Amino acid sequence: MMSNVTLRVNGATHTLDIDPSTRLLYVLRNDLGLRGPRFGCGLGQCGACTVIIDGVAMRSCVTTASRVSGEITTLEGLARDGTLDPVQQAWIDEQVPQCGFCQNGQIMTAKALLDRNPNPTDAEIREAMDRALCRCMTYYRVQAAIRRVARGAPADAPANASTTVPQTAPSTITMPAAAPNTTPAAATGTSPTAARAIPEEVAK
Ligand code: FES
Ligand code: FES
Repeated sequence: MMSNVTLRVNGATHTLDIDPSTRLLYVLRNDLGLRGPRFGCGLGQCGACTVIIDGVAMRSCVTTASRVSGEITTLEGLARDGTLDPVQQAWIDEQVPQCGFCQNGQIMTAKALLDRNPNPTDAEIREAMDRALCRCMTYYRVQAAIRRVARGAPADAPANASTTVPQTAPSTITMPAAAPNTTPAAATGTSPTAARAIPEEVAK
């Protein structure tokens, strides 16, 4: 049976006529067109679908949409007025993504961590991130990016990489086929147009 469900997402209120048992991930992707959160396992185990609800990283694939009353933030909601969140920028500066599929979960989990603990220890980083799985083994660069945000390094002063995605880096997540290979979209959650100006794995 369908019913009206109201969700607050990235600062906007949406009332949707949906089956109230629908998982939040499907509402975000299919009804609201927010493709930052990814479907990985669908079982709450991999983290690809992570969103932030009232400051807490949550797995949207196992969250019932009608039970969410708080403010939902997706990858698309991190940037402000065209400026990437420091976490997204650090992902670019450290060249974190490989295939990019898991990176929404990595970024959103890291964002929630840094918002509640701006200067985490390495042990705290590992503990917070240990359930955000990456088959490409980007864990070391994930940790480096989180450290970069924690120490407040200037976004325009990459430690060991340029902000240009290497030509060999896959852009499977959100980069349109014709888009220049200059910015990861898995880290930003922007529209396809905006994603051309922002790295793909950081923007979605
Ligand atoms: S898709 Fe949600 S945890 Fe894997
Ligand atoms: S699964 Fe993490 S970058 Fe490929």
